[in-house]
Amino acid sequence: MISFIFTRFIYFLLYIHLLPTLLCFSLSQPLCHDEERSSLLQFKESFIINKSESVSDDPPKVKFWTHESQSSNCCSWGGVECDEDTGHVISLDLSSSFLYGSIDSNSSLFKLVHLQRLNLADNHFNYSHIPIAIKHLSMLTSLNLSDSAFSGQIPSEISTLSKLSSLSLSHNRLELKGPNFETLITNLTGLEQLHLSQVDISSTVPKSLANLTSLTSLLLRDCGLKGEFPGDIFQLPNLQILNVQLNEDLSGKLPPLLKQSSSLKVLRVAHTSFFGELPSFIEKLTSLKELNASGCNLSGMIPTSIGKLNQLAYLDLSENNFWGKIPLSLANLTQLIELYLDSNHFSGPIPLSFSKLINLEILYLRNNYLSGTVNFDMFIGLKNLTAMDLSNNKISPLIESSMNETFPQFTSLKLSNCSLRKWPDFLRHQSRMEVLNLNGNHIGGRIPEWMWNISRETLFTFSLSENSLIGEVSPTICNLSSLEVLLLSHNKLSGKLPQCLGSFSKSVSILDLSDNAFSGNIPTFTEGNQLKIIDLGHNQLQGILSQSLTNCKMLGYLNLESNKLNDVFPYWLGTLPELEILVLKSNTFHGVIEEPMTNLDFPKLRIIDASYNNFSGKLPLKYMQSWKAMGSRSVGEFEYMLSIPFKHVERGGGQVWQMHYYYTITIAIKGADRHYKELPNLIAIINLCNNNFDGEIPEVIGNLLGLYSIDLSNNNLAGSIPSSLGNLTELESLDLSQNELSGEIPRELAQLTFLQYFNVSHNHLTGPIPQENQLSRFESSSYEGNLGLCGIPVPNKCGDSEALEPVPLSSSEEEQEESTSPFNFGWKVVVIGYGCGFVFGFLIGQIVLARKPNWFAILLGSGIRRQ
Ligand SMILES: *[C@@H]1O[C@H](CO)[C@@H](O)[C@H](O)[C@H]1NC(C)=O
Ligand SMILES: *[C@@H]1O[C@H](CO)[C@@H](O)[C@H](O)[C@H]1NC(C)=O
Ligand SMILES: *[C@@H]1O[C@H](CO)[C@@H](O)[C@H](O)[C@H]1NC(C)=O
Ligand SMILES: *[C@@H]1O[C@H](CO)[C@@H](O)[C@H](O)[C@H]1NC(C)=O
Ligand SMILES: *[C@@H]1O[C@H](CO)[C@@H](O)[C@H](O)[C@H]1NC(C)=O
Ligand SMILES: *[C@@H]1O[C@H](CO)[C@@H](O)[C@H](O)[C@H]1NC(C)=O
Ligand SMILES: *[C@@H]1O[C@H](CO)[C@@H](O)[C@H](O)[C@H]1NC(C)=O
Ligand SMILES: *[C@@H]1O[C@H](CO)[C@@H](O)[C@H](O)[C@H]1NC(C)=O
Ligand SMILES: *[C@@H]1O[C@H](CO)[C@@H](O)[C@H](O)[C@H]1NC(C)=O
Ligand SMILES: *[C@@H]1O[C@H](CO)[C@@H](O)[C@H](O)[C@H]1NC(C)=O
Ligand SMILES: *[C@@H]1O[C@H](CO)[C@@H](O)[C@H](O)[C@H]1NC(C)=O
Repeated sequence: MISFIFTRFIYFLLYIHLLPTLLCFSLSQPLCHDEERSSLLQFKESFIINKSESVSDDPPKVKFWTHESQSSNCCSWGGVECDEDTGHVISLDLSSSFLYGSIDSNSSLFKLVHLQRLNLADNHFNYSHIPIAIKHLSMLTSLNLSDSAFSGQIPSEISTLSKLSSLSLSHNRLELKGPNFETLITNLTGLEQLHLSQVDISSTVPKSLANLTSLTSLLLRDCGLKGEFPGDIFQLPNLQILNVQLNEDLSGKLPPLLKQSSSLKVLRVAHTSFFGELPSFIEKLTSLKELNASGCNLSGMIPTSIGKLNQLAYLDLSENNFWGKIPLSLANLTQLIELYLDSNHFSGPIPLSFSKLINLEILYLRNNYLSGTVNFDMFIGLKNLTAMDLSNNKISPLIESSMNETFPQFTSLKLSNCSLRKWPDFLRHQSRMEVLNLNGNHIGGRIPEWMWNISRETLFTFSLSENSLIGEVSPTICNLSSLEVLLLSHNKLSGKLPQCLGSFSKSVSILDLSDNAFSGNIPTFTEGNQLKIIDLGHNQLQGILSQSLTNCKMLGYLNLESNKLNDVFPYWLGTLPELEILVLKSNTFHGVIEEPMTNLDFPKLRIIDASYNNFSGKLPLKYMQSWKAMGSRSVGEFEYMLSIPFKHVERGGGQVWQMHYYYTITIAIKGADRHYKELPNLIAIINLCNNNFDGEIPEVIGNLLGLYSIDLSNNNLAGSIPSSLGNLTELESLDLSQNELSGEIPRELAQLTFLQYFNVSHNHLTGPIPQENQLSRFESSSYEGNLGLCGIPVPNKCGDSEALEPVPLSSSEEEQEESTSPFNFGWKVVVIGYGCGFVFGFLIGQIVLARKPNWFAILLGSGIRRQ
């Protein structure tokens, strides 16, 4: 009975708490002071409340701060907290309140001198400086201005707030130079949280940080820190979180000798210059839950004692120089959720005992020298494993065919270059896959029908390239309704392409079927498709080109090389607004290239290879005038061509990746192979060799200032070499050989200082070879077959002394020339036979877009932002 009455009393109290504005008083809540109420209102009114800035649906905290509630108790307003005894506002939390506008020292905020906690994080203060009036808030113990669009130097007044225990200024455009880091903290001896991520500090880490003995969390991510990280900081008795990642010039050892076991839970040094070995006393970090040392200069073997860190849930040692075996003791870390050991020099087997890591979600071991048989049975118990990458090792997977749906369900499985000989049978039961890479294996035979039925709704990247697959591709491939990337190149697939390929998925962006034996016609592409890259090169495709390609409005790359296509020039491709690279090489395209429909045709084309066909008539003068993209020498910032960011993301385990694709190109010009990993967007190339073009080379070719390479060899071109070619100062390769050209070699060509390859052999050229620059330094084979040429390097001396003697360049000058080439190609031209052309391709990369946002909070049971 007594307890019943007591409960009723509590309800009563709650009731009046909920209705303070009605009752105008409450038993426990103090009334606020008038002047503080008006300061708060004034503060609110100095901003625009820009709700549209935010994605959140919650109403802004300041919504009910109004004049109507003038007489009301501001202590009950959203975000406001008052002292129970005095009624003064002691805490103001307006984080994520959509405040937009400038703030200065006149702001009424600084009249709230009793404030102990101030949180203005995640607003937009329009790049204001932090007002120096902040010093009036001398009672502050906690100040959070992170992610709020402040800029400029952090004022020294902050360092007078000697009661501060928590200071967060991360993610603004702030700098900390005068006062510098050391002076800022001199008097802030009580700091527990110091968060300065992305503040431009650009100095060493002050040793005095190690005097802040209360410090629990120190976040200095991406601050431009330099020098050696003071090892004493690891000794701080209360430090739980240390993040110095993304400071490329910060070095240090991990960790230096520890006196006692440490309370460190999160240690992030990724992408710094930390070096040396992981010491065996790492075991002293007994509380460690996350260690991220990815992309440092660490080396040596991983100490067995790492197996004692039994709290460890996230371990990332990728992209270092670790070697030796993966220690068996790692399997003791049964709390592990993510394990990244990729891109090191690990050798030996993948420990069987990994089967004990039952909480594992992500296992990345790619790019090592791991060997031995990997019995996939070991993964059966890892029910949470969703992303695994074993690519590029020397392992031999052993995959029992009896594996059924009890096997882990992957979202991402990458087994590239893993010596697989058979279809992994367990794939039949995979229903959630988004990414499946099986390229570079030895899988033979036909693609089983069930392959096109797995993960039908989810699969978006599928690579089977570089295997030994044979047979036709079944139309059931079109069941894969989410597919974005389909890579089947370098196999022995044959038969007709399924018609549905041109229409099955609105989302397919990349279709690579090159280097197979597909025959028949190119499928019909329907409207609204998203194709950006189509590579059908090196097949047996026949007939005319389907004009439905004009439905591929996003197309940037079309490669039809080495097929049996028989058509006139596909002028209608000129309507494609994004087309950058067009390869028609080695087919039987024929006829005169007519004038373009408009002078806006091919607006972005930079590379055209129509070599080894039967084109005839004059060179396409009007096209050369309309190829606008080739006419620019440098387009602003140096970029790579068509690095396609994908709308689709891969969710492997906790990660969200964004895929990126680049063109690669191997330019093989007369045997001088050069491989561009990513193709700079500056390069323009015209290759029309081995056709039957006649007439003259139009002067307008000299307007295409972006040209790096021109190959018009093996045609019937007559007339003289246009002097306008001398304006193409980026030109590295010029081949006009095996034509009917006559007249003299224009002196202007001597301006082509980047020229690495030059060939005018087998024409009817006469007169002196210009001697001013390197034209005279090419071998005589560049000129042979022109009986009228004279001067170095050909044997004929010029009759009169018109030709200047060559001025030999000193070797240092030569070196200089090399390095002034914008991409520093450093290629050596070796003339091997008479081939002409390029090898095209593209590369798939990926960047991390975002990661599962909240495990950091889960990990620590706190609300600290993951960074
Ligand atoms: C709110 O922010 C958006 C995006 O920055 C901007 O376009 C809009 O003009 C802002 N609204 C106001 C009222 O300032
Ligand atoms: C933001 O700053 C700019 C430049 O200082 C200023 O012109 C503009 O009025 C400011 N906007 C607000 C809402 O304070
Ligand atoms: C503050 O207000 C005073 C007078 O109201 C004015 O003279 C001064 O320029 C203001 N200071 C700032 C930083 O806006
Ligand atoms: C630290 O505090 C002392 C005593 O209040 C003061 O003299 C000194 O100037 C302060 N140093 C800094 C860097 O603020
Ligand atoms: C740390 O504090 C001690 C005692 O207050 C002082 O003697 C020492 O100079 C400080 N160390 C640094 C690096 O500031
Ligand atoms: C480690 O840090 C790097 C760099 O910030 C990041 O890309 C990577 O995802 C992190 N790894 C883990 C497991 O969090
Ligand atoms: C840790 O692993 C080692 C090597 O596998 C083993 O000898 C040891 O017993 C394990 N310790 C624990 C606590 O499981
Ligand atoms: C796997 O994930 C689930 C859901 O996230 C979780 O409840 C469970 O503890 C994890 N571990 C194991 C071994 O299932
Ligand atoms: C699946 O395989 C496991 C292990 O091989 C076996 O125990 C289980 O009975 C199988 N389940 C089915 C439905 O076949
Ligand atoms: C080369 O370019 C310059 C200016 O861009 C132009 O004046 C000149 O006529 C061009 N020379 C030839 C031969 O086209
Ligand atoms: C600062 O506020 C932001 C946004 O509310 C929050 O994510 C972060 O954890 C806070 N920082 C500190 C040190 O409390």
